[in-house]
Amino acid sequence: MSLRVGSWLNGAVMEVIIQPSKEAAALLVARLIARELRANPHLVLGLATGNTMESVYRHLVRLHQAEHLDFSLCRTFNLDEYVGLSSQDPHSYRSYMRRHLFVHVNIDPRNTHLPDGTAPDLEGECRRYEALIERCGGIDLQLLGIGKGGHIGFNEPLSALRSRTRVKALTPTTLQQNAPLFATPEAMPRRAITMGVGTILECRRCVLLCTGDTKAGILARAVEGPITSMVSATALQLHSRCTVVVDEEAAAELLEKDYYRWIFANEPEWQEFRSATSGWNGE
Ligand code: F6R
Repeated sequence: MSLRVGSWLNGAVMEVIIQPSKEAAALLVARLIARELRANPHLVLGLATGNTMESVYRHLVRLHQAEHLDFSLCRTFNLDEYVGLSSQDPHSYRSYMRRHLFVHVNIDPRNTHLPDGTAPDLEGECRRYEALIERCGGIDLQLLGIGKGGHIGFNEPLSALRSRTRVKALTPTTLQQNAPLFATPEAMPRRAITMGVGTILECRRCVLLCTGDTKAGILARAVEGPITSMVSATALQLHSRCTVVVDEEAAAELLEKDYYRWIFANEPEWQEFRSATSGWNGE
């Protein structure tokens, strides 16, 4: 008989899944999303951008093409958008989402939502975005990455744990992390609209993907460190259903790796995910 730790806690638990590689971690996240979408075609899916997410979207596109994963009834809400970039700007997160996911799957563009970083009334736009999420019944599954300074969305250090969607000034760490994607560092916007930490904590399920050795230190602080607004991702420890998926490199500084591996190897929920490549032949 297996020990069902998650069940004892009635699902109120953060779980960490360690995968052998970046690609295996991204595949697991894509399969997790696919399972939720198949179980609920009307899924309200929260999306993230950034380098880490690109492989997740590649796998979702493949699952759509090869296994008919259906996005036609799904609605999406992105975490954030740069202030001042139009949706047509190639550096906007709307363009990123079009490029990596939206144009490759059968999602209705009218069901895809990002904050409008060019809205004349940015505060009003933030309130509109929150209201729209609420009108859609809230977010079922929120996909998250983590910044080098520990942000989720663009919730930079000292973001209130109850914060809502708002305009946030980006830190030098974030500017340094994302500036290489722009033609010149000066071209990168200094502010973004982001869902708040409180908004994220209200999502019914959170899935955080973190890969690479440069994130090992911040990941350990986020998962095993004390909850602090200095590292927004620590707020996920307060969430009742958060799954953190990492590769070996990002897991390097975690103290309880053996325990996390044991849970993944034994919990019934993860049975179908244990074979790293099942349903995927590799690329
Ligand atoms: C972007 C977002 C950010 C990124 C984080 C990691 O929508 O929400 O929190 O997930 O900055 O970015 P990468 O994956 O580029 O390291």
